[in-house]
Amino acid sequence: MKPRMATAKNTMTSTRNETVLAGLGLSKHYGDLQVLSQVEFSVGVSEAIGVVGPNGAGKTTLLSVLAGSVKPSAGTVILNGVDVTCLRPEMRCRRGIGRAFQIPRPFGGMTVLENVIVGAAYGARLPHKDLYKQCVAVLELCGLIDLANRRAESLGLLHRKRLELARSLATDPRVLLLDEIGGGLTDAEAAELVSTVKQVRHLGVSIVWIEHVVHILLQVVDRLICMDAGRVIAEGEPGEVLRDAAVADAYLGKSRT
Ligand SMILES: Nc1ncnc2c1ncn2[C@@H]1O[C@H](COP(=O)(O)OP(=O)(O)O)[C@@H](O)[C@H]1O
Ligand SMILES: [Mg+2]
Repeated sequence: MKPRMATAKNTMTSTRNETVLAGLGLSKHYGDLQVLSQVEFSVGVSEAIGVVGPNGAGKTTLLSVLAGSVKPSAGTVILNGVDVTCLRPEMRCRRGIGRAFQIPRPFGGMTVLENVIVGAAYGARLPHKDLYKQCVAVLELCGLIDLANRRAESLGLLHRKRLELARSLATDPRVLLLDEIGGGLTDAEAAELVSTVKQVRHLGVSIVWIEHVVHILLQVVDRLICMDAGRVIAEGEPGEVLRDAAVADAYLGKSRT
């Protein structure tokens, strides 16, 4: 997927320790329901972070606040050192936040290639002469090149998930937010997905990946964050986080009534 790396967002000089995306004191409530409470978050250049936690923990809301589709009640989102809290999602996309949704949302009535072209044209804002090359590279990376001319709505689950990833990659992200794109896949399909995400990461894209299938995450991520009830309850080396008593408690509810 060479063309993508030649674009402006990714030719910025950055080191591995440099933060690409950060959330400072992020809170979100809906009426009395506190969904995020003072969440501190950051991901570095080329870093891959896994996000786990029980249903309703606030994981998707955190991605939505980072991507701009949900406005936080308090806190700040910083992208490449710039406060983007007030920017709309499409503007954040153009500055380097790509997102793949849990439930794939392909544009119906369009082919696979056309779906990816939309991402490259409107997200990455590539000039016409570079569009085709970029989209072919993305489709090859995601194992969709043979389906380029198929209608998106005719795809099965695996290929819809791949298309979701492809569309977000076509926007030329510096950081990719993935929400449960591994759920429902066979072991062989999941292995292919892991291989694709690893390749993306090696191209210099940072990854933030929510996934319930933890063994998939562990093959890719450097760091794991566990959320529960809108808070980060554990963070660090994946093995340590999984052994953390608070994490077991969040999943098994040992001390709850
Ligand atoms: N638009 C909304 N209005 C009201 N409550 C919401 C809304 N979006 C999410 N929630 C609630 O916020 C909590 C966290 O949801 P979510 O971020 O989707 O959790 P997770 O992704 O960890 O399963 C849940 O209790 C959910 O019902
Ligand atoms: Mg979710």
